[in-house]
Amino acid sequence: MKAIPDQNRVLIFDTTLRDGEQSPGISLNAQEKLEIAQQLARLAVDVLEAGFPITSPGDFEAVREIARNVEGPVICALARTAAGDIDRAWQAVSDAARPRIHTFIATSDIHIRHKLRTTRESVLGQARAAVAHARSYTDDVEFSPEDGFRSDREFLAEVIAAAIEEGATTINVPDTVGYATPEEYGAMFTELYELVPALREVTVSVHCHDDLGLAVANSLAGLRAGCRQVECAVNGIGERAGNASLEEIVMVLRTRAPYLGLATDVDTAEIARTSRLVSRLTGYAVQPNKAIVGRNAFAHESGIHQDGVLKERGTYEIMDATTVGLEANSIVLGKHSGRHALARALAELGFEVKGETLNAAFRRFKEIADKKRHVTALDLEALMTDELREAASGYQLEWFEVEASSRRPPHATVGILRPDGAIVKGSFTGDGPVDAIFRAINAATGRDARLREFRVDAVTGGQDALGETSVVLELGGSDRVSGSGQGVSTDILEAAGRAYVRALSNALRRREMVGGKPVADREPEAVGS
Ligand code: KIV
Ligand code: ZN
Repeated sequence: MKAIPDQNRVLIFDTTLRDGEQSPGISLNAQEKLEIAQQLARLAVDVLEAGFPITSPGDFEAVREIARNVEGPVICALARTAAGDIDRAWQAVSDAARPRIHTFIATSDIHIRHKLRTTRESVLGQARAAVAHARSYTDDVEFSPEDGFRSDREFLAEVIAAAIEEGATTINVPDTVGYATPEEYGAMFTELYELVPALREVTVSVHCHDDLGLAVANSLAGLRAGCRQVECAVNGIGERAGNASLEEIVMVLRTRAPYLGLATDVDTAEIARTSRLVSRLTGYAVQPNKAIVGRNAFAHESGIHQDGVLKERGTYEIMDATTVGLEANSIVLGKHSGRHALARALAELGFEVKGETLNAAFRRFKEIADKKRHVTALDLEALMTDELREAASGYQLEWFEVEASSRRPPHATVGILRPDGAIVKGSFTGDGPVDAIFRAINAATGRDARLREFRVDAVTGGQDALGETSVVLELGGSDRVSGSGQGVSTDILEAAGRAYVRALSNALRRREMVGGKPVADREPEAVGS
């Protein structure tokens, strides 16, 4: 294959931790965000949008931790045009080796009139002031005209030209509501390049939402029109129907490189693992037939296809599963493996653990190895993510007992370790064993949480597979707030209990962060820029 010239390198701007984290029900804590950010660095994304620091002290802290600890990508923070937002974004990212401030304001008439309740003139002034202010901190400033695709083209061009004049180095034109078709989105950039010649001096970026299922196609159309940064999220998570999916964009560019002539620096072998981590920590399952990372993405079911692939892979396969790291389910350890073998296997998987964390991981490993003949890389990955999550959880499930029979309703008793170190007990007779455990946890913690979603998956195939559960719950009262949590164990009831206490801890943390207000009321859009 011919070498791809530098001007055809596409920058991957990952927004899993910002736009992705705005998906309903997702509530990552700082430790979880850091873990995802570290994996994104291993994936070698170019820019990592770590969060929106003004929205909460928790988001601010998470962005700052990522800026301080994650090496490799540019670390970016989002800010509205208000000076206070930009100050806060800068405080959060300034410790990064390569910090970026990303500021935005809506430019479509519908947003200006109804959301911002202001005028085009004021938006233009705010955009100018914001970029200038951000430039006073750093020379890496991105500007986005929100709802750019639905904006009046002449006005959009005027705002973009002003942002470049003030020193913006990246201009991102989003299809905020996922309304565009590929032809229109590509044509918009062709027109903008004509209206604003200075666009050729900066990086131009695409940012597409998937409301009509066109986010990846639209992003590609933008790249074909000359843009060289693409904003995307792992597993396509994001507001409403989500963002363009990172893995799909990267693999289209790679698989069709001879046709497209574009390339990224992403280490594709890290894709599957990144997808699993994001799914596990957000609680957002990946559909089995999802392109690139779905369980069936490389499976051939029909006899005709299997026959074809056996004779020549290329008959039905356009990509190799190993390219995206899907071969990771090799057997690595067994019942007799010791602490050193575990530490070595974990290090190979990217977890450098020692001391008490290694002891805890070893205890969990032994529990699993007693029940499961072979412990695979996927099992270890699930176990470690679970262990790290445990350390970050406010409440912890210490023990549980469930009495269940076909003649009596199930009765559960749980022991919960509170953040202050005390163990509290609670009991409940429920409709089923899982219901009994959840309500016993409510009783022990004195919380009135309501279950909203509950899901059980298997980490690997086979009868002895580890179970992975996911819970979304809501805390009642005038300050309703939701939280999600996940748990892993060979025992489904234990995995469910772990997931529930973590969801509860996350919801309480979220309630604290937003000062008792429902999260929706803190959406930045509610505060005019
Ligand atoms: O969709 C959107 O417009 C955004 C901006 C903040 C870039 O997420
Ligand atoms: Zn967006």
